[in-house]
Order: sequence, then structure tokens, then C-alpha cells
Amino acid sequence: MARLDQTKTPFFDKIKAYGTSGTTALDVPGHKLGRLDSEFKSFLGENVFLLDANAPKGLDNLSKPKGVIKEAQELAADAFGAEHAYFLINGTSQGIITMIMTAVRAKEKIIIPRNVHKSAINGLILSGAMPIFMKPHMDSELGIANGINLSELRETIMENPDAKAVFVINPTYFGVTSNLKEIVKLAHEYGMLVLVDEAHGAHFGFSDKLPISAMEAGADMSACSIHKTVGSLTQTSILLTQGNLVDQNRVQSTLNILQSTSPSSIFMASLDSARSYMAVYGKEKLEKLIEMAEDTRKRINKLKGLRAITKEYIYNHKGYDYDETKIMVQVSDLGITGFDAYNILSQDCNIQMELAETHLILAVLSIGTTQEDLDKFVEGLKQLRKYKTDKQIRHKIRFTYPDTYERPREAYHAPKKYVRVEDALNEVAAENIMVYPPGIPLVIPGEIINEDILDDLAFYKSQGSTILSDTEDGYIKVVDKDNWIKYEGDLWN
Ligand SMILES: Cc1ncc(COP(=O)(O)O)c(C=O)c1O
Repeated sequence: MARLDQTKTPFFDKIKAYGTSGTTALDVPGHKLGRLDSEFKSFLGENVFLLDANAPKGLDNLSKPKGVIKEAQELAADAFGAEHAYFLINGTSQGIITMIMTAVRAKEKIIIPRNVHKSAINGLILSGAMPIFMKPHMDSELGIANGINLSELRETIMENPDAKAVFVINPTYFGVTSNLKEIVKLAHEYGMLVLVDEAHGAHFGFSDKLPISAMEAGADMSACSIHKTVGSLTQTSILLTQGNLVDQNRVQSTLNILQSTSPSSIFMASLDSARSYMAVYGKEKLEKLIEMAEDTRKRINKLKGLRAITKEYIYNHKGYDYDETKIMVQVSDLGITGFDAYNILSQDCNIQMELAETHLILAVLSIGTTQEDLDKFVEGLKQLRKYKTDKQIRHKIRFTYPDTYERPREAYHAPKKYVRVEDALNEVAAENIMVYPPGIPLVIPGEIINEDILDDLAFYKSQGSTILSDTEDGYIKVVDKDNWIKYEGDLWN
């Protein structure tokens, strides 16, 4: 329950006042508060440029907040039930890397599920941490990876009592959570920090009809994509912390390494305003949204060949809890893949889904979703049935992850070579390769490329998915083992 006046938007107010004050701008940015005319400006409107100031007097500094940014961050901490909040202008990716670099140093262990977003792997590269990967629970019916199992975590912790932190995803991209409260209790018994990727759960704390938020569960740090489900501009997130296990000074120093010295004031104003809106109206709007989503699921479940996943399904498939503002629809019984459905809905109905997997498509709703959007979604799904085939959709789920040859950081720094994808078997990957969305790497630096990986890559390519890596299509960057002299330097490498 918030204690402060959540209607306040101190940063937004201040930047508005500055932008409309008629200041003579002899500083950067070069558009001079919108005095440079362009097609871009006439489309966006002048106000966007009036708010786009760099570091004018009185507007505070994100790298060492003392004024209105500090005040706005305190309001955010209050709204999200944290002790401290830090505005992130480079997304939850920045928050995840910061959490890892704050909590774990080179060669120290972090217990982490393997189905993490690529930013967590990048956090391992930058920190030099040694990942102890946990296999998430796999739902073989839907072909997706879910949360982690408490008893397996206990075993992993007991085998690695020297680990510094446990990393948890709350919820997964698909909305499934693990028993976070018990995970926190267990990790804290062993003095380990709990770091939470809450990219898809920033709205959790605003209704008790949603899964528990990281802060409510007692986690130490959580990175929340305010842009994904709360309504701020894309790229804006918040890092939340609480408790005395977190070194706040190290958090700020790490953020300052990772962020621009010219943070966008529009981004920060957008965070300030989205937080206020959610704190004031969120509970009521989320509860209405949950009802609308439930009604939509019921309507979808009346359509032959389609199945909207319910909370009961998640409970029966070892999920701990489910975010009912997400709508997962299994389409494979129509003899089409989720990738087909994603494309058909876009081409025929102008509906943009969040993502597709082999068996399903995913809709991410928010307090900005309207009943009309959901009606169009149901209509679009009805259209899908025209594309029904007799094909048996290949059951595609890997139950294993590649073996690790070396720490991600070590592989990142090793000498490299580029091999054709078809020649990459048994090579050690030197880059993340992922399908986006969801951005969960199929292989990460330091893992041995096996047949499953090559098979997956060929499959996703055949489905027209966007495959992201650092290398030209058709090639993979791998470790040049013949020229690799392992560096046995000190602890900080
Ligand atoms: C599970 C998960 N974690 C982290 C991120 C990174 O969030 P952001 O895009 O805000 O940097 C994403 C983005 O898609 C994600 O899906």
C-alpha cells in the first residue's frame, strides 16, 4: 500500500515547466527544443521536442539524483513496494545486467534457470560469474519452458552453498511463475541474494488477483519492464531493491557504467507518469482487465480446434501461478503452427501478436487493452479456422540444454573463428544465438553446439522466425580452440 501521494509527477512537471519556459537553448540537443523543422517534427508535434532537454539546471542528474529525479524514484519505490527504485533508460536488460554485476563477481557462482533472456547471459559475460544452470520445468504439451522446481533448487543450493545469488524469472514470457516466496526463504537461509527478472510482471504488485511480485515475496532486487505492461515508453524500466544484502552504492555505480550520460528526459517523464497512473488507477483497471481476459478465454474455448490456456491448466502442469492478463492460444490442433497463425492474423486481420511458438500464439494484454481489441482477436481466431489442415504439427520440445565447456565470459574473450552453421557441430559457441521474440538463447557463449541446436536453428529458419546473433546469416562465431591459451589470471577475470 503506497504511503506517498501517488498523484504527484515531480519530474514530468518540472520538465514540462522547463520546456514551456521560453528558455534560450545554447546547450544540446541540437534540435533546440524543437526549433529545427522537419517532417519528423511535424508528425510528432512540438511538445515532444519541448520535453527533450539534456541536462538543464534544476532537472537533476540520473547518475546521482538529488532533486526531482530522486523524488520521482522515491515515489516509484513507494508504488512498487520497494525501498529503492532506479529509473532505467536502457530497458530491463540494463536492470538485469546491473543486478548480476552488483551481486556476483568474476568466478563466483550464480544459480540461474537456463531459459533466461539474453540480457542475463550478457550479465554473466560482463560480470565473469560462473552460472550454475537449472533446467526449468518443460511443458511437453505446449512445448514451452516454465518455472523452476523448489526441491531441485534446494538440491542445487546444497551442492553449491558458495553461490552468491539465485536468479528467478517472475513470470516467464508466457506468464507462468515459480513459488517465489519459498525460493526467497530458501536462498536467504544460505545468505544468497534473490535477483528477479520481472520484465513481464511489472504490474503484479497492483492487484492481489495477480501472482505475487518480487518485492512482496521478499526478493532483494527486481528489474521490471514498465514499458511492457505498465504503459511507459518502450525502453523504459525500473530496478527495484530492498533489504540490507544489496549494496546500493554498487547498484548506482553499475548503472552509471551501463547508461548514457544523456538520458532521455522524455523517457524519465514517461516513467514518472506511468507509475502515477498505475498507482492511482491500476488496481481497478487490472481487475477489469482480468475479467475481460477471462471472458475472452471462454469465448476462444468455444471455438473448435483452438484452446486458450487457463489457470487450471497451468496448475495441472506444475506451474505455481499464472498471470491471467496473458492469453496463450494453442492453435496446433488446427493443423497449423503458431508461426502460421501469427502470420495469418497479421496479414488477414491486421492483428499483431506478441509471439509465436510451434504450438501457440501469445497475446500480452495491459490496462491499455480495450474490449474492442479482444473482440477483434476472437474474430481473427475464427478466421484462422479457414486455414485448417490435416497436418500433424511436429511435437517440438527439447528436454535438454547444451553442455557447458567454459564460462560465458571466458568464451567471449577467447580467440574466435567463423564457421558455416552446417560445420558447427561440437564447436564451442562464442555468441548468443536466439529467436526474437522471446530472446532466450538457444546457445550461449561457452556451450557446445550439438545436433539439437542445429536442428532448432533449421526449424526456426524454416518458420521464418527472426534469428538474432552477432554474425552474418549462415555462420556461427565459435571459439578457436587450437589458438586458445586459457588465461589463468587472478580472481577478477
Ligand atoms: C524475460 C525477459 N527478460 C528481460 C527482457 C529484457 O527487457 P527489455 O526489453 O526491457 O530490456 C525481456 C524482453 O523481451 C524478456 O522477455
